[in-house]
Amino acid sequence: MYEWIKAFHVVAVISWMAGMLYLPRLMVYHAEAQIGSIQSETFKVMERRLLKGIINPAMIVAWVLGLYLAWSVFGFKGGWLHAKILLVLILSGIHGMLVKHVRNFAADKNEKSPRYFRILNEVPAVLMLGIVILVIVKPF
Ligand code: HEM
Repeated sequence: MYEWIKAFHVVAVISWMAGMLYLPRLMVYHAEAQIGSIQSETFKVMERRLLKGIINPAMIVAWVLGLYLAWSVFGFKGGWLHAKILLVLILSGIHGMLVKHVRNFAADKNEKSPRYFRILNEVPAVLMLGIVILVIVKPF
């Protein structure tokens, strides 16, 4: 069973990360679009569907299966596992920020610049690098 659970964990993680890398990029363009324009309204639909249809469910599945793997084989022990969970908690915090930004855009109340979203876009990529090294190399 362990290999199967791990396979579905990785599928969920890929889906979650795809959204986490793409959503802030959409927001870079959305922040440049004029409020009330067709582009702005289209970005609202894209952001809502990406968040509700992919990112939110993928995050839940990644967490549930990841915690099961961490408990069933590693008993929640190991420096790499603790560090990985810490980085995933930070990633989940970024997820929470994106939810807030989607709501602000939907209400035409975004005040952040395209540059802000460009910088925010880099954070999940850096976290992913650390998470994957920790779980595969297990350096400590
Ligand atoms: C949500 C909380 C998460 C927990 C508790 C968790 C925990 C785990 C555990 C215990 C394993 C099994 C490791 C092994 O068998 O050696 C695993 C596998 C894996 N995790 Fe996570 N994980 C989480 C999220 C993530 C995220 C966000 C990523 C990527 C960005 C990720 C990437 C991977 C990969 C690539 C594997 C397969 C490693 C291998 O081939 O052994 N995980 N995870």
